[in-house]
Amino acid sequence: MWLNSAPGALLLVTPLTRSLFEHSCLANNYYGQVLDGNQVKTVFIPSEACFDAVASEAFTDTAALMQASHPIQQLVWVEQAAVDPGLLETAGYFEFDNFMDRLKTVALAKRQQEPIIPPSSPMDTGYEVLYLSQTAALLSVSSATAMTIDTLLPRFWKSTLLPTSPVDFIEVPEEALKHVKSVLATLTFNPEVASIVESISVPQLINDIRFLTGEDEVSGIVSRHSFSEGSRVAAKWLKARFEDTGASCELQPFLSGFTPNVVCSYPSAVESNSTIIYSAHYDSRGSFGSVRAPGGDDDGSGTIAILALARTIARRGIKFHSNVQLVAFGGEEQGLLGSRAYARKLREANTNVTLMIQADMLGYHAQDEPPQIGLPASIGTPEVAQLVANISTLYSPELRVGYTAACCSDHQSFHEQGFPATQVFERAGPIVDPMYHNSGDLSDREGYDFGQIKSIAKVQLASLLHTAGYEVSE
Ligand SMILES: *[C@@H]1O[C@H](CO)[C@@H](O)[C@H](O)[C@H]1NC(C)=O
Ligand SMILES: *[C@@H]1O[C@H](CO)[C@@H](O)[C@H](O)[C@H]1NC(C)=O
Ligand SMILES: *[C@@H]1O[C@H](CO)[C@@H](O)[C@H](O)[C@H]1NC(C)=O
Ligand SMILES: [Zn+2]
Repeated sequence: MWLNSAPGALLLVTPLTRSLFEHSCLANNYYGQVLDGNQVKTVFIPSEACFDAVASEAFTDTAALMQASHPIQQLVWVEQAAVDPGLLETAGYFEFDNFMDRLKTVALAKRQQEPIIPPSSPMDTGYEVLYLSQTAALLSVSSATAMTIDTLLPRFWKSTLLPTSPVDFIEVPEEALKHVKSVLATLTFNPEVASIVESISVPQLINDIRFLTGEDEVSGIVSRHSFSEGSRVAAKWLKARFEDTGASCELQPFLSGFTPNVVCSYPSAVESNSTIIYSAHYDSRGSFGSVRAPGGDDDGSGTIAILALARTIARRGIKFHSNVQLVAFGGEEQGLLGSRAYARKLREANTNVTLMIQADMLGYHAQDEPPQIGLPASIGTPEVAQLVANISTLYSPELRVGYTAACCSDHQSFHEQGFPATQVFERAGPIVDPMYHNSGDLSDREGYDFGQIKSIAKVQLASLLHTAGYEVSE
């Protein structure tokens, strides 16, 4: 599939500025937002005439304009994750060169298998680097290479696929924030909520993670990488466990070869079209070249937290006054693919999503740090982050609350569709987990703190009870 079969297309990568979207020729050629260091940037593929017309505004000193030499294939944005400088020293930027070598080898091999390059094209490597900064790059690669690029990336880099045709720039409308704002404005401590969230079981969290990582030596899971056998075992197991708690679950495939999304629903006990979503991703990534990807922290920890919500909902006989969904996404590590498909589907169905909170990496904190909760500094809905922060103060005062540059898990997919969304993360700062994207990401290790996972799960459940409304039927 060719995004633009003619060589010479212009690509503009520029900081997110709302006024740019007032030019219809840019708005109609918009390909999404990405993160470069701490800065949110937008990607456009404007015509030359369009660019000439808007150049004075669009081409600032922090913008980049490139001309592709070859037909554009699948666009992939790769970026360095927000990793603590101390941890980064162990890897570093030079790893990026090794990645480019690997990419060249793979892209060439794939090109020889399927000669998809038009004869007129001078392209000889099967890929093109369109943009490169210290913290990010924009690549054009075949779609086959794009789907597996996570297996080539340096450890602290991650990738996201840009759409194959222009998309609408959608902001979260004021109307959609009303519910979150009114809950925030009237928020007070509720002792019943406190007692419910306090009953989240740590021994159960431990059992659940040991199944997902294979540490229990019963599940047989070696990896939950999106294409692995273990991810299928995990999907079926998650569906069954959520169903044990009274939810109706579906395995929803979104792309051939990928492990499906596990979507579990609790219908509202009263008339309501409001839908509230709590999610995590259950796929994982291991060390370069290793088949092991236990994903104990990333994102087994978020997955067991939403399962803990389900188990507590069942144990306490809770019925909600909104439709509630607990979702475990697949394909996150290949670029938010499962959640993109699901958020788009909800948008097309005009679903009234009043809140979405993704839990990604809840388990790790450094030895000399207190337990904490981090909220995304850049991509996400500030009002939702504020609600989570205030709920945290009420129900998990043991947590230090702050913001993190670590970004862009599955909540980005919902935020991009105009749904109020945020993420909860293990640290009020960049990533310090030494086992991040590593085959040693097990739960039984120093720094992996089940107490912190429980504290964050308490915040998730308390915010769910406060925003959905509920009754206890015992
Ligand atoms: C949320 O918490 C902050 C900090 O404690 C406080 O200043 C603010 O008033 C709270 N917001 C609401 C709406 O209660
Ligand atoms: C949801 O229900 C409200 C009434 O509670 C109604 O005004 C609104 O149109 C409904 N929205 C959708 C998307 O069905
Ligand atoms: C969505 O649900 C909320 C909460 O029930 C309701 O107040 C709001 O009117 C609904 N919005 C739409 C567009 O249906
Ligand atoms: Zn993750």
